[in-house]
Amino acid sequence: MAQDSGSIEALLHEDRTFPPSEEFKKQANISDPNIYEEALKDPEAFWAKFADELDWIKKWDKVLQWDPPHAQWFVGGKLNVSYNCIDRHLTSARRNKAAIIWEGEPGDRQVYTYWDLYREVCRFANGLKSLGVKKGDRITIYLPMIPELPIAMLACARIGAPHSVVFGGFSAEAIRDRLNDSQSKILITADGGYRRGNIIQLKQNADESLDGAPSVEKMIVVRRTGHADENMVDGRDIWWHDLVEGQPLTCEPEPMDSEDMLYLLYTSGTTGKPKGIVHTTGGYLVGTYATTKWIFDLKEDDVYWCTADIGWVTGHSYIVYGPLANGATTVMYEGSPDWPDRDRFWAIIAKYGITICYTAPTAIRTFMRWGEEYPERHDLTSLRLLGTVGEPINPEAWVWYWKNIGGGRCPVVDTWWQTETGMVLITPLPGITTLKPGSATRAFPGIEAEVVDESGAPVGPGAGGYLVIKRPWPAMLRTLYGDPDRYVEQYWARYPDIYFTADGAKIDEDGYFWLLGRVDDVINVSAHRISTMEVESALVDNSKVAEAACIGRTDEIKGQAIVAFVTLKDHVTGSEEIVAELKRHVTTKIGAMARPDEIYFTGELPKTRSGKIMRRLLRDIAEGRTLGDTTTLADPAVVQALMEQYGEEE
Ligand code: PRX
Repeated sequence: MAQDSGSIEALLHEDRTFPPSEEFKKQANISDPNIYEEALKDPEAFWAKFADELDWIKKWDKVLQWDPPHAQWFVGGKLNVSYNCIDRHLTSARRNKAAIIWEGEPGDRQVYTYWDLYREVCRFANGLKSLGVKKGDRITIYLPMIPELPIAMLACARIGAPHSVVFGGFSAEAIRDRLNDSQSKILITADGGYRRGNIIQLKQNADESLDGAPSVEKMIVVRRTGHADENMVDGRDIWWHDLVEGQPLTCEPEPMDSEDMLYLLYTSGTTGKPKGIVHTTGGYLVGTYATTKWIFDLKEDDVYWCTADIGWVTGHSYIVYGPLANGATTVMYEGSPDWPDRDRFWAIIAKYGITICYTAPTAIRTFMRWGEEYPERHDLTSLRLLGTVGEPINPEAWVWYWKNIGGGRCPVVDTWWQTETGMVLITPLPGITTLKPGSATRAFPGIEAEVVDESGAPVGPGAGGYLVIKRPWPAMLRTLYGDPDRYVEQYWARYPDIYFTADGAKIDEDGYFWLLGRVDDVINVSAHRISTMEVESALVDNSKVAEAACIGRTDEIKGQAIVAFVTLKDHVTGSEEIVAELKRHVTTKIGAMARPDEIYFTGELPKTRSGKIMRRLLRDIAEGRTLGDTTTLADPAVVQALMEQYGEEE
């Protein structure tokens, strides 16, 4: 039967490809496919060209020093990231251009021109200095999505104090661990933030986190909600507005070495303890600048919106540093997409005439479920480019986004990268790449990615394997904070001198990459990265729990959902109350995003004869799959019992 070629059904039943339109190509920042070959011939020259577009206090002597697995980029160069993101735009008409357009959840709005941003960053940087902050001191930032967050980051960058941003959804304990690991001197927070009409109690969490974090001398508090003025602690807490009052409006940017630390950002790995990813100055700025410019095809009059939270790396690289280094207008929204109604994102796009929108597949799947009536309420014709990040996107969601948000007119760039990579590494270039829904397509020019088997040999087209990166890239992590051995072990031990991503992937006959998810014990819940070990340690921390094992189960909306299998101590019997208690416990230990969706009690966990928990079997049980190999199992009856229980409760 003939199908209407414009319908979703038709799109889904064919292997459609989406070449760039002539119109898009003509105006694209980069449209010459030879760039791939050229860049790989001399990657250092390729990156140096971008570096030349930035402002250096002193030019580098050497582009790359590679002593595997340690890279230094733009060796000997001196620059300041805040200068590059702000001051260098002040000498042209960009001075009066909106740098940040911010909208609060209740509907309040602030616009910072580059000149405004300059003044606010300088004032706050001077405020930090007045508290004794010096180059190299670490500063933890625990703020909602308000303008003070990028202002604080840029002020830190201006004076050379590395920041460590902790996502506002983390609990007091999680903040404390990060404060102690980074030995932060200052904690910056707000009294609260708005989310789905409620106030998030940030100050309360921040207060609790300081109980047992002796390195912190001062807490700076932004008054956002005004609901907790009485909670200020004399001698320790300072209001942001008091600190900046009367501060000079200029602050000399600190000359930073290319390899000085710009920030650290904690992320989940395979152990219970989060890793402090270290990003440095020169290479990180060049990498985020270049990728923002080419992948988002950024132009002077674009209004660019990345919907991520700055608490994650996406916000660092693609709300703050990449866009501002390009002199772009970057939009920030504080709250939830369904407040006051499910059309909030589309209302924002229409209101500010947003031209580029970058979001996560989990959000797109949620919008799909809510239905087309919400985007249909608004004029989305300002959009010209769409992006996704954080997890694999299913072709159905890709096509929905392309059709219902992009009006069938906007290329969709599916960008693969990690906290560790600092910048996007696998992505389409919208003026060059023929898109395939569900594929992140090709490595960015200058990046050499490969899919290999256990032995490190490249797998052929269609076969699955491990995604690796074969050359250093400018924004790569330099080490793990305070744990250089783990850096080597985690990323460089499996294949000599090659970066191990811990992602599975396949390459198709056109050389396109298809990401298949993590191959380690990291779960991706709504594009948030959570370690199974972290959730397990939080569970066994509860006095009723003897043992716990967590796995990620496929979830239609969230990508993955957390399922926990728990063995209780002898005298305790499982009940609904204990399920609720354990969920609360994980929320307190880590944060709500790590709360298990389902908890199952079991007399025993399936283990190998050597005592290792067989998570693979638990995954099979949770997914309702036929069981994989159980021959190494110590007691097959355990699995049988679990399967029966799981089957009953579903
Ligand atoms: O599994 C990959 C997945 O997210 C992981 C990195 O998570 P995080 O460090 O929190 O950074 C997220 C934002 C960059 C990766 O190891 N991932 C990220 N982007 C994609 C993706 N999986 C498939 N397709 C993507 N576009």
